[in-house]
Amino acid sequence: MQHERVEKNVGLMAILITVAISFGGLVEIVPLFFIKDTTEPVAGLEPWTPVQLEGRDIYIREGCYNCHTQMVRPLRAEVERYGPFSQAGESVYNFTFQWGSKRTGPDLARVGGRYSDEWHKAHLYDPRSVVPESNMPAFPWLFTNEVNSENTPNKLKALQTLGVPYTDEMIATAADQTRGVKEIDALVAYLQKLGTVVTGR
Ligand code: HEC
Repeated sequence: MQHERVEKNVGLMAILITVAISFGGLVEIVPLFFIKDTTEPVAGLEPWTPVQLEGRDIYIREGCYNCHTQMVRPLRAEVERYGPFSQAGESVYNFTFQWGSKRTGPDLARVGGRYSDEWHKAHLYDPRSVVPESNMPAFPWLFTNEVNSENTPNKLKALQTLGVPYTDEMIATAADQTRGVKEIDALVAYLQKLGTVVTGR
């Protein structure tokens, strides 16, 4: 009798379906907020330096994430190609995370240290000069633009309020570190740091 009422009332049915599905979602999602593995930084993780942080913002501004993921999945083929699979604790200082969802180019989660700075610069200036079959766009303006160092302390401060362990001293000296830095150097500093905390296969 009760069940018949639910089956004949679309509105009630929709509400109860929503409740049932969100319960399934909650059971999977809520525990993640309390499991150490997903909330604590992995051993050795440090906040981005001011220069790396500016590089990260250039990565976001230029839309690199549209073609590159930063997420090595725990699948054999991926681990053999890219290195150890990504852990949640590697991303806890990243606002927003750069896991991405599309791989036109390779995953970059562990690209740090794989190439020299010079390789990255040649590649970003003209990808075809080092990878002839590449369809990655060129980013020549990064070689003339300088980072806007006035903004750097504000960026650190904002991250500090979100729980990233920047000290007040780091914030006070941030602008000095990014003053006069070319955008390309900031971006390469960021790329060279990616995935270098968790190592060893
Ligand atoms: C339209 C898609 C596209 C965009 C946008 C793009 N890339 Fe790429 N990227 C590729 C492709 C395809 C490759 C593989 C061929 C090559 O190495 O050039 C690649 C390769 C790379 C590699 C070498 C990775 C490896 O393991 O060999 C790096 C590093 C890289 N891209 C960084 C960047 C950065 C930084 C940006 C943003 C400034 C960017 N890419 C934007 C498509 C893209």
